[in-house]
Amino acid sequence: MQNLKIILNTNLKKKPDATTKLGFGKKFTDHMFTMIYKEGKGWHNAQIQPYSHIAFDPATTIFHYAQGIFEGLKAYKNEKDEILLFRPEENFKRLNASARRMCIPEIDEKFALQALSKLLEIEKDWIPTAEGTSLYIRPSIIATNVALGVHPSIEYLFFIILSPVGSYYKKGLAPIKLLVEDFYVRAAVGGTGAVKCIGNYGASLKVAENAIQHGCDQVLWLDANEHKYLEEVGSMNIFVVIDDTVITPALTGSILPGITRKSCIELLRASGYRVEERDISIEEVIDAQETGSLTEMFGSGTAAVVSPVGSFQYKYKEYTIGNGCMGQVAQFLYSVLTGMQYGKIEDKFNWSYNVTKKAKQEI
Ligand code: COI
Repeated sequence: MQNLKIILNTNLKKKPDATTKLGFGKKFTDHMFTMIYKEGKGWHNAQIQPYSHIAFDPATTIFHYAQGIFEGLKAYKNEKDEILLFRPEENFKRLNASARRMCIPEIDEKFALQALSKLLEIEKDWIPTAEGTSLYIRPSIIATNVALGVHPSIEYLFFIILSPVGSYYKKGLAPIKLLVEDFYVRAAVGGTGAVKCIGNYGASLKVAENAIQHGCDQVLWLDANEHKYLEEVGSMNIFVVIDDTVITPALTGSILPGITRKSCIELLRASGYRVEERDISIEEVIDAQETGSLTEMFGSGTAAVVSPVGSFQYKYKEYTIGNGCMGQVAQFLYSVLTGMQYGKIEDKFNWSYNVTKKAKQEI
């Protein structure tokens, strides 16, 4: 492994009680991983160090031009007290895809996973074990050059922070309500919608706020060209079930290629479900709703796992899906995915990454 310096924190925080509501991304552990990049020198100074503030010059590129990317994954503990990750290689692969789109130098994916594993071993006691909880992992890369010219930075900081979390939505697994947005757009083909860059999320805030003012939980984005086809939800990919076929928008360049999305598709196909990745218009969804063939809608994402959608609002009209409860397909996916993530069911797909076992093999 590339050199990884470890500076242990001697001033440890009190860990939150995982049986009370942890919320999402409010508490952070005692350590973080950092690594810096300088043009001509490449990525260097990899270290695990006490979690701390980071200070930058006000003229730093990240503050002005949002040249920054991130990932989200989770760590779980199984009954043997081993640390498990879910398809982490996919996250570092996607981080590099985001890096290429944002002119950020790529990282060594294998090393990043080894460094994360080390960080998790140090922070093992922060992984909550109550049902529905996990340790959320946020790898980020930001441009740290001090310059106001609009050009790619020549310096970067890669950091990984950890946060014990409960469910993403305050309502937990209770079905959410979506506002179908027919004016504002999330991303156009050719833009940055297919990567995880920070600007995508900042640009969505106004619309998310509007959804809340309309009594909804999140936005369901439509395509930028015709405001007609489903794209994704604020922090999730979207699925609908019509006439026993599970349909999700195809990855046409403006949608984030979710790892949970991909896992749901693979899992459903392997279990005999018919799955279509294709354009799906809001009219098709409403027609199916009106004829009774729309039986489910749900979102998928690392933070949200599988989240049922009970109703949606479009052009001031409200539609309740089925009986407004979590449907059978969403329930199936939620149980199997979380079962694999917590190491409770057989991992037929080899998606689980056992940090503890790998560390023992390396000794
Ligand atoms: C995730 O699901 O990990 C995300 O990154 C979505 C959101 C919390 C930004």
